[in-house]
Amino acid sequence: MKALEGVRILDFTHVQSGPTCTQLLAWFGADVIKVERPGTGDITRGQLMDVPNADSLYFTMLNHNKRSITLDTKNKTGKEVLERLIKTCDVLVENFGPGVLDRMGFPWETIQKLNPRMIVASIKGFGPGPYEDCKVYENVAQCTGGAASTTGFRDGLPLVTGAQIGDSGTGLHLALGIVTALFQRTHSGKGQRVTCAMQDGVLNLCRVKLRDQQRLAHGPLTEYSQFGEGVPFGSATPRAGNDSGGGQPGRILKCKGWEGDPDAYIYFITQAPVWEKICDVIGEPTWKTDPNFATPKARLPRLNQIFERIEQWTMTKTKFEAMDILNEFDIPCGPILSMKELAEDQSLRATGTVVEVDHPKRGKYLSVGNPIKLSDSPADVKRSPLLGEHTEEVLRDVLGYSADEVASIKASGATEPPQKRAAAE
Ligand code: COA
Repeated sequence: MKALEGVRILDFTHVQSGPTCTQLLAWFGADVIKVERPGTGDITRGQLMDVPNADSLYFTMLNHNKRSITLDTKNKTGKEVLERLIKTCDVLVENFGPGVLDRMGFPWETIQKLNPRMIVASIKGFGPGPYEDCKVYENVAQCTGGAASTTGFRDGLPLVTGAQIGDSGTGLHLALGIVTALFQRTHSGKGQRVTCAMQDGVLNLCRVKLRDQQRLAHGPLTEYSQFGEGVPFGSATPRAGNDSGGGQPGRILKCKGWEGDPDAYIYFITQAPVWEKICDVIGEPTWKTDPNFATPKARLPRLNQIFERIEQWTMTKTKFEAMDILNEFDIPCGPILSMKELAEDQSLRATGTVVEVDHPKRGKYLSVGNPIKLSDSPADVKRSPLLGEHTEEVLRDVLGYSADEVASIKASGATEPPQKRAAAE
């Protein structure tokens, strides 16, 4: 048995945020039925295509282990099928634009009447407030949730990060909300609404920057290199480059080969408990007792000098050599790994974090498997469904329609794209 076996999800998600959530639930064993618009399906199927006539990696990497049915929910018969799905499923997950579900004729009150045990989980860009009606994509969330204003260098533009904290981050938040609501249902017997706003999700992940915002009221942020450079702080948490900004100062430093390799760098943390070992490794044993360097407080105004000296050492080693040497002394560090290096990493393959999947139209491709490992519920990654691959199967086996009824649903056009319907008529 998988952890979520027996839980059935009506997956109305699209693009990235919602699909990351339902993919996780599928990996935990839920039966995820993805409802897609006939003809086009999830818009990402056709975005960033690299292999002709094959679903894009954008789609395949976000929709593993799901079943796909096509259903026009604006068609009368389509609405009847959707009603039956709502009555049959435990959770409806959606990340439509604001108001879409209501316009479709399925506001929360209607869903609750159809199935009082149903959990309705939604991702929106913003929570209630001035922007609640706005559509949102990843980078908008990064900008409005505080990530962009605190990412980058002080003298440069705000930056977005490659980590999809707005989409995948909010998908993770929503998945936690859903399993929590499922647990509450075991004793309340009732469904409830679970909502996550992308702005809130990003802000949650930027919690430490709101911490620093408040610390500013009591003086400069001494862990930021700006402090040692004598640059006054403004009224808001500044961008801090690659400073850790936390209790253990850290930086990205050049390693051997940096001139030709954009990823020949290492993140080096001057963790206080191993300071003496750091001094020995880099060849500055006098810094162990020198009052300018011996204590964390004394070091704070000198971070630039300290990291420049450490970098003289890291530049004599490759990032992997430096990692090996530093780990012997328990000095926290990490090489900057490229996507190429991660794709080829055998230990990530062995744990199933990077998996090779076979797809009938595109052949073999790599994906990220389930990063959350359950000892009693291992995730086996199955390819994403083709558009409408399971329409008949779901109508028949999940919703209990007879063969004649399935034929009449198909004849109504509810599962076919409008062009095909028009041609048939
Ligand atoms: N059958 C018929 N119509 C369908 C359908 C189906 N199976 N599935 C979707 N539709 C229709 C909807 O009813 C809606 O129609 P309406 O506007 O006439 O009511 C329409 O498709 C568009 O839905 P919408 O979600 O607004 O799509 P969009 O492409 O215009 O916007 C987003 C995309 C991502 C910006 C928007 O969905 C959004 O803001 N989502 C919430 C935040 C989010 O998750 N963003 C990140 C995405 S990675």
